[in-house]
Amino acid sequence: MLNAIKISEYDEPEMHGRDFLQLSDFETEEILYLLDEARELKKLQKQGKPHPFLSGKVLGMIFEKSSTRTRVSFEVGMLQLGGHAIFLSSKDIQLGRGESISDTAKVLSRYVDCMMIRTFSHKSVEELAHHATVPVINGLTDLQHPTQVLADLLTILEHKGNLTGLKLCYVGDGNNNMAHSLMEGAVKVGMHISIASPEGYSPNQAITDHVKGMAKQTGSSVLITHNPIEAIQNADVVVTDVWTSMGQEDETDKRLAVFESFQVNKELCEYAKKDYIFLHCLPAHRGEEVTEEIIDGPHSVVFDEAENRLHAQKAILKALLS
Ligand code: CP
Ligand code: NVA
Repeated sequence: MLNAIKISEYDEPEMHGRDFLQLSDFETEEILYLLDEARELKKLQKQGKPHPFLSGKVLGMIFEKSSTRTRVSFEVGMLQLGGHAIFLSSKDIQLGRGESISDTAKVLSRYVDCMMIRTFSHKSVEELAHHATVPVINGLTDLQHPTQVLADLLTILEHKGNLTGLKLCYVGDGNNNMAHSLMEGAVKVGMHISIASPEGYSPNQAITDHVKGMAKQTGSSVLITHNPIEAIQNADVVVTDVWTSMGQEDETDKRLAVFESFQVNKELCEYAKKDYIFLHCLPAHRGEEVTEEIIDGPHSVVFDEAENRLHAQKAILKALLS
């Protein structure tokens, strides 16, 4: 049953011209609207019906870190919407040689209709958005990965038929971009969330406080623990992410030891609900944060999740630009 959320229940929110930096900037109704739009766009694409809502529009995509899914899904998404995307590696543009973010923002705003950036510091994205006169989309920072989590919510909705009241458990690095965006996204749509991570790797305190405040309004609950078994009890959705994120490669050996008992494996998943689904934003390290048995097993929906990046991002682009 996929009709738990109907667009007709909401007034169409005004998102034109806004930035998409983190999910906490958006109202629950706006997130539900984007999910509904994503499902409509997915339907059109599957039926082979053209949907050139962004004819003639151009997206500039700045990448300071590697990417497979984000780059390809944004590029294909713009093409399917009738527009065009330009890949701008920081190795090749002047930003990588020290040109300022503000000058880059002002110049690119004269050419493109929207910018997407994947970078290290969240402050860089905020600075780009501050100086740009076109919408800026966060394609991942050290702090947040909001476009991924919109795709995750779409995947959960498709597989579970609803979002509100479900329990999502994240086991792993609680202080990374995925954990933070999952906390914001889950709580916005009324899901319960538990995060299990080793001591010293709990989520950012300011985000935790903010999310706990939001949870009071949406009827969600937030559990932050160091105990994976406590966190995963009766979970509908189990999520993990790499133990070493991009930019942390120097800490790989230390992290392998610290996170050893935070692996998502068959023994741990025995405590989740029988019909749980498993999500991972990918790329994954089989044998580290998750066993092959789980990520390639019957509960895993990771490739639906990867596909949904395309549909969720088309909904974002359409809302900000059309
Ligand atoms: N999940 C994700 O953002 O993948 P990429 O790093 O390949 O873009
Ligand atoms: N936490 C991971 C996500 C990759 C999509 C990283 O930042 O490397």
